[in-house]
Amino acid sequence: MKSFDIVVALDQRNGVGLNGALPWSLSPDMQYFKQITTRTEDPSKINAVIMGRKTWESIPEKFRPLSRRMNVVLTRNKDFVLPEEVLRAESLEAAFQELSKQDLSKKVEKVFVIGGASVYGQALETEACQTIYLTRILSDFKCDTFFPQFENNFKEVESSDLEQHGDLTYCFTVFQNKTLF
Ligand SMILES: NC(=O)c1ccc[n+]([C@@H]2O[C@H](COP(=O)([O-])OP(=O)(O)OC[C@H]3O[C@@H](n4cnc5c(N)ncnc54)[C@H](OP(=O)(O)O)[C@@H]3O)[C@@H](O)[C@H]2O)c1
Repeated sequence: MKSFDIVVALDQRNGVGLNGALPWSLSPDMQYFKQITTRTEDPSKINAVIMGRKTWESIPEKFRPLSRRMNVVLTRNKDFVLPEEVLRAESLEAAFQELSKQDLSKKVEKVFVIGGASVYGQALETEACQTIYLTRILSDFKCDTFFPQFENNFKEVESSDLEQHGDLTYCFTVFQNKTLF
């Protein structure tokens, strides 16, 4: 399996979502997410973002597919309608296989798994995740979906200063897979 990175925002109890949406509104994190997932070293390439069907549906229609990124949506429902330019995959493994095919692998620089909870869980089980870009929000939100335990296998390598936006205090952190050390 091709290696990939995860991008996620978590509250203090590793909550990620509520009722199919983000429990918070944090525009600086949206900008950070866009920057991390869009930036490429080679300007002729793009990155791929893999997401679950529910996360796809949580993106407002006017913002999807996410621009300047290859969008890959996981669904087991063959009838689920997606725009032509979006790649559908019936498993995480199938998504990586598709991205490894010659025509796409030439175009795609990095692969990011961008949620939701069920896909994060499966992605971490593969052990092919190198880096987790984790925005930590220092609040407790009501959540119904959570990020799995990951600290045993990942080491924090970077953390920004604490930042404030409205009522929210947060920081941007980076974790790397311990096997890389
Ligand atoms: N905090 C964050 O950074 C962050 C990021 C992303 C999302 N979220 C939040 O996370 C929540 C959604 O998470 P979720 O766990 O409920 O849903 P999800 O992971 O986004 O989507 C689940 C769906 O994806 C499909 N799927 C998952 N694994 C698959 C596999 N191996 N093969 C084929 N299809 C697969 C299935 O779709 P079908 O049912 O169609 O088969 C499944 O029902 C929302 O609240 C969202 O706002 C938070």
